[in-house]
Amino acid sequence: MRLDKYLSHIGIGTRREVKKLLKEGLVTVNGEVVKRPVHVDPEKDIVEIEGEIIEYREYFYYMLNKPQGYITATKSKGQPTVLDLLYEEPVVDKLFPVGRLDIDTEGLLILTNDGQFAHRISHPKWEIEKEYYAVVKGKVEKDKTETFEKEGIDLENYRTKPFSIEVIKDEDDRSEINITVKEGKYHIVKRIMEKLGHPVIYLKRVRIGNLVLDETLKPGEYRKLSEEELYKLKELVKMKN
Ligand code: URA
Repeated sequence: MRLDKYLSHIGIGTRREVKKLLKEGLVTVNGEVVKRPVHVDPEKDIVEIEGEIIEYREYFYYMLNKPQGYITATKSKGQPTVLDLLYEEPVVDKLFPVGRLDIDTEGLLILTNDGQFAHRISHPKWEIEKEYYAVVKGKVEKDKTETFEKEGIDLENYRTKPFSIEVIKDEDDRSEINITVKEGKYHIVKRIMEKLGHPVIYLKRVRIGNLVLDETLKPGEYRKLSEEELYKLKELVKMKN
């Protein structure tokens, strides 16, 4: 791979900016200053900028605690997008969100540039669980939730996959629940709860498969997935690690 491509892919700068760094003699490959975009082997060669080792990565994976008010898209005409929250990341232009959360939904969102990974996490075939914490109107009755785990329920023209509801708190006018679904259909949780007579007041995704939202992240904050988190997620969707 050409050195300028290597460095611009991982977000060091545009190809032009990278060439400038090279001309200035700031880049070394295996200890030798290189002023032209030579070919490098990302597996073997050691690339440094001003003495700092610059590791190559093809793919990037982040978890974001999505706040309300941001749309899950890469571009938009007026409203801010989730990518606006990662503007400090050099690779932000390459990222896209995995699946979608509504503008007023908070919580766990994965961002990556790995298309196969994103596809598998979101594709219904893999039935990856998505767990949400929700505050809903009315008293959700604990003993009525069992049948959904076997049969799902009918929405207009559509029967959901089986899902489960755990009631955390039930008061007369509102309840707190955890609801786990295995699909990413548009407004799925809101539609299910509306159908059950408990419109959603607040919704937050807390888990995707075996990846749990890092509760130390405040809404709007993000971090890279750890090696372990990524390993386990890839294992879940049968991708090579
Ligand atoms: N279900 C919804 O209704 N909204 C979301 O944002 C996610 C799941």
